Amino acid sequence: MSHDFVKKSLTRRGVLKGAASGAGAAVLGAGAARAQGPDPLITEKQDWATGLGDGVDATPYGLPIKYEDDVVRRNVPWLTADPISSINFTPIHALDGTITPQGCAFERHHSGAIELKKEDYRLMINGLVDTPLVFSYADLERFPRENRVYFCECAANTGMEWAGAQLNGAQFTHGMIHNMEYTGIPLRTLLEEAGLAAAGDLKDKWVYVEGADASSNGRSIPMDKALDDVLVAFKANGEALRKEHGYPVRLVVPGWEGNMWVKWLRRIEVTEAAVESREETSKYTDTLADGTSRKWTWVMDAKSVVTSPSPQSPIRHGKGPLVITGLAWSGRGAITRVDVSKDGGKTWETARLAQEGQNKALTRFYLDTTWDGEDMLLQSRAMDETGYVQPTKHQLREVRGENSVYHNNCIQTWHVKPNGEAENVEVS
Ligand code: MTE
Ligand code: CO
Repeated sequence: MSHDFVKKSLTRRGVLKGAASGAGAAVLGAGAARAQGPDPLITEKQDWATGLGDGVDATPYGLPIKYEDDVVRRNVPWLTADPISSINFTPIHALDGTITPQGCAFERHHSGAIELKKEDYRLMINGLVDTPLVFSYADLERFPRENRVYFCECAANTGMEWAGAQLNGAQFTHGMIHNMEYTGIPLRTLLEEAGLAAAGDLKDKWVYVEGADASSNGRSIPMDKALDDVLVAFKANGEALRKEHGYPVRLVVPGWEGNMWVKWLRRIEVTEAAVESREETSKYTDTLADGTSRKWTWVMDAKSVVTSPSPQSPIRHGKGPLVITGLAWSGRGAITRVDVSKDGGKTWETARLAQEGQNKALTRFYLDTTWDGEDMLLQSRAMDETGYVQPTKHQLREVRGENSVYHNNCIQTWHVKPNGEAENVEVS
């Protein structure tokens, strides 16, 4: 990337924002805002300013402008045997803020995304309840609903990175996550509608939740979580759930591993004990360093990643002001602090949180800094309201060994080179 280009683009910004503005000059640096000669974008009339644009009916439901067509979900074909029981990844390297648009939010399904009409939708509650019930979609719409923002992270997110740096991009290493505003009914409300007296002492009881797809993806959830903050959701970011995210109704299990967020939710059974289904025994179980397995790691521990600069989002400008940004989250509550290191964890600077950390939702952080073109080993480290600090890869391996897949929340390192390119690396 030539230095000339840099100056030119900064000049344009300076002119557009008003070169006289003190604030602009301070951000860009005194030299940067100085004019570099005539800029045709400023001095000449452009097509878009002389002709007419599209009419309002051109895109009744809008898609991103074509210049943004690389901000898309991507998969890694060799990760799974076929694209049906597979995964794709959110382009977190190219997004900002915290809300994930549904159209690029990662998908994970075990038997494909099914098409289920609202009219054909039924939700059954049975088992240890006073009155087994079946709800239609229209029934659900008549219960008081709530709006809440939560992240959903697949337990396998970062799972390829245990043995060493593998996938070259934040999208691939950390993109099995999305963060949406859900509209739904507290599961507690529906369980109470069915009546829980028949269950007796609720302390040891469970709910078993399953989906309408062929995999059913059945999972057991302890009753205290079920009655706490679980939602039966039918909208995300204000609109209907997309097919791939469970249309018309999915379960939202805040802070807990994505596998429990059952899509196309069809049945909730109150049970005496955990069902010990495939998804909660042979899958989603953690292999430890001593070769034994730890079952039921439900909560997603605090984690963070620098999304830019990163391998898919290199630094495209020269020395000077640099915005380092990323995401942090914790299944135990709110993020309270994120530190950023440029030297592989030797020294740390506290990042600016765009907004105070929210309960079990993504937090955006920024480090507004200056880059002199030096090599950086960029890392971020999250802390949550419980005092938990995101571990290094080394610390995590001491407990978990190298044969784990799920629940890898270690600190990620990007090697940013003097040319601005970045690479996934590991530091000892
Ligand atoms: N629910 C059903 N019914 N079928 C599935 O295959 N996949 C689970 C979960 N719920 C799955 C499911 C897994 S492993 C994850 S990580 C999340 O859904 C992913 O949700 P998303 O596809 O909306 O990103
Ligand atoms: Co998953």
